[in-house]
Amino acid sequence: MTSRPHRIVVLASGRGSNFQAIIDAAAGGSIQAVCAGLITDNPGAYAVTRAHDAGVPVTVVDYLAFSSRQDYEHALLAAMEASASDLFVLAGYMRILSAHVVARFPDRIINIHPALLPSFPGLHAQQQALDHGVKIAGCTVHFVTEEMDAGPIIAQRCVPVHEDDDSESLAARILAFEHLCLVEAVRLFCEGRLKLEGRVVRTDILPEQN
Ligand code: GRF
Repeated sequence: MTSRPHRIVVLASGRGSNFQAIIDAAAGGSIQAVCAGLITDNPGAYAVTRAHDAGVPVTVVDYLAFSSRQDYEHALLAAMEASASDLFVLAGYMRILSAHVVARFPDRIINIHPALLPSFPGLHAQQQALDHGVKIAGCTVHFVTEEMDAGPIIAQRCVPVHEDDDSESLAARILAFEHLCLVEAVRLFCEGRLKLEGRVVRTDILPEQN
């Protein structure tokens, strides 16, 4: 464990409730971390308001403002490097990171996904789960690799699917657990307790917890 708090930067495109969970956990001391920045591709995101309220610096890398994907990626990479972050958290970030960006921060980018991966990667995961008829749904925090929603799994939580669920009600049930799961994953990272063995993440259990 390092003595200085880890710097965490969140990438978010929208509502930012997972971002808020990290702000709150850092402020409340349940993770030894500083929420050092928000990077967003969407200047109108509610996450930006949350950042301002919490005094978290915001960097906008607006995809639509660039003439090519390459220019956007160049700016994103520059913003990530300038942040000097130990960990990047994708929390509802609606752009796929290129292999080049992922490779620049090995095992230092994580993502929260609203399904029990490897089932239902990609968009509309809650609706995919309903359409498939699963009885248990949930969320996954994983390391980001080149392949979308396919990296080593750090933490998962499950919730029941109710007979009368629609994607909205299921998403709301999952979301409450996303916040817990994400904070837990960040805490484990900050405590240096995530060990990668191939694609399996081992969580180093502290002796007093045995
Ligand atoms: C969450 O369901 C997350 O799993 C998904 O996008 C949603 C973002 O929600 N990737 P919020 O912006 O954190 O409230």
